[in-house]
Amino acid sequence: MTEPSIFIGAGEKPAQLLARYGNRHGLIAGATGTGKTVTLKVMIEGFSRLGVPVFVADVKGDIAGLALPGEASDRLAARLQKLAITDWAPSANPVVFWDLFQQNVYGPAVVVQATAGGT
Ligand SMILES: Nc1ncnc2c1ncn2[C@@H]1O[C@H](COP(=O)(O)OP(=O)(O)OP(=O)(O)O)[C@@H](O)[C@H]1O
Ligand SMILES: [Mg+2]
Repeated sequence: MTEPSIFIGAGEKPAQLLARYGNRHGLIAGATGTGKTVTLKVMIEGFSRLGVPVFVADVKGDIAGLALPGEASDRLAARLQKLAITDWAPSANPVVFWDLFQQNVYGPAVVVQATAGGT
């Protein structure tokens, strides 16, 4: 049986994250626009597909789109061709939003309330 893994991307060689190493600490670093957020989204999607729940603090709001299917584009098609991926299909990921502001902007959400206090 093939070991569960997440396909992260490919440069000279394909890079897979073996699921059994998913409990390690990690850091995604790079200059602006080099793919940090996309890498994170790929990891989140990969863990979700493996049945691993992922908690994401999406401060900039650029991760929440995982809840909707992606859209094909010329750039994506070129990348898929380069990576020899032939079975890509857009699909939504199961996402539950935690609603700090209780405005239901994104539909039903888990209401989260916290009270800060001190002595
Ligand atoms: N693995 C990839 N393959 C092809 N294109 C990619 C890949 N990762 C990122 N890109 C392209 O680069 C663009 C920028 O990626 P991303 O938003 O992840 O960068 P970032 O490092 O998070 O940027 P910022 O520092 O502005 O937050 C994406 O919109 C996408 O078009
Ligand atoms: Mg980013």
